[in-house]
Amino acid sequence: MNNIPIIKLENINFGYDSRFILNNLNLEIFYGEKIGLMGPNGSGKTTLLYILTGFLKPFSGKIIILGKERKEEKDFLEVRQKIGLLFQDSDAQLFCPTVKEDIAFGPLNLKKSRTEVKEIIKKIANTFNIQHLLNRPIYQLSAGEKKIIALATVFAMDPICYLLDEPSDGLDETTKKRLKDLLNTWVKTCLIVSHDKEFLRDVVKKIYVLKDGQIFPYQDFFQEG
Ligand SMILES: Nc1ncnc2c1ncn2[C@@H]1O[C@H](COP(=O)(O)OP(=O)(O)OP(=O)(O)O)[C@@H](O)[C@H]1O
Ligand SMILES: [Mg+2]
Repeated sequence: MNNIPIIKLENINFGYDSRFILNNLNLEIFYGEKIGLMGPNGSGKTTLLYILTGFLKPFSGKIIILGKERKEEKDFLEVRQKIGLLFQDSDAQLFCPTVKEDIAFGPLNLKKSRTEVKEIIKKIANTFNIQHLLNRPIYQLSAGEKKIIALATVFAMDPICYLLDEPSDGLDETTKKRLKDLLNTWVKTCLIVSHDKEFLRDVVKKIYVLKDGQIFPYQDFFQEG
C-alpha cells in the first residue's frame, strides 16, 4: 500500500471566475505521510481541499483517490467516507441539533451499529475531553468548542487520511497540545493546512507551499527558527 498514493492530483486547473486559483497543480500523498500545507491568504488552500473531496469540480486535470479516478458526485461519496475533511469554518461541519448527534452522524453513515456508535461517542468524548458538551445544542457552543467538536466528528469516522483546514485555529494551549498528541499517535496520514508554524513543526514531517496555483516543497522549514 505504501507505494501507491492515497491521493494523486494531476494537472488540476480551477478558478472561480476568470481568475485561475489552481494552475496545473500536482500533488501526491502516500500512506503514512504527514504533510503541512502553507500559503498566503487567498492562495487556494481551502479550494484545493474542496477539489479533493468533490465539493468543487476542476476545469481540467485528474483526481485519483484510493487508486480510482474520481469525476462524478457518486465517485466522491466513497471519498468522503474514507478521507476525513475538517472544514476551515466549523459551522460548515456541524449541522445536527446537538453535539452527540453530530459525532454519531459519520459512524452511522458508515453503517456502524447503534452499540458501536455509542462506544465511538464514549471514546471520542474521552479523547477530546468533551463529555460535558455532548448534550449541548451546537448553536450554544463557543468558537473554540465548535472547532473541537468539528475535529471530534472527523476523528469519529477514523478516516484513512485526514485533510485538516486550520485545525489549531482558536484552540487554547492545552487543547492544542491534546490535538498534537492525537495527530502524533492516532493519525497515520494527513494533509494539514495551517498558518501556525509551531503547530506544524510538531506534527508533520514535510511542508508544501501553495503559490501561484502550484505546490512547492518548503525546503528550509525545519531549519528555520
Ligand atoms: N465562491 C467563490 N467565488 C469567488 N471567489 C472565491 C470563492 N471562494 C473563494 N474565492 C476566492 O478564491 C481565492 C482562494 O480562496 P481560498 O479560500 O481557497 O484561500 P485560502 O488559501 O484557503 O485562504 P485562507 O488562508 O485565508 O484560508 C480567494 O481569493 C477567495 O476570495
Ligand atoms: Mg482557507
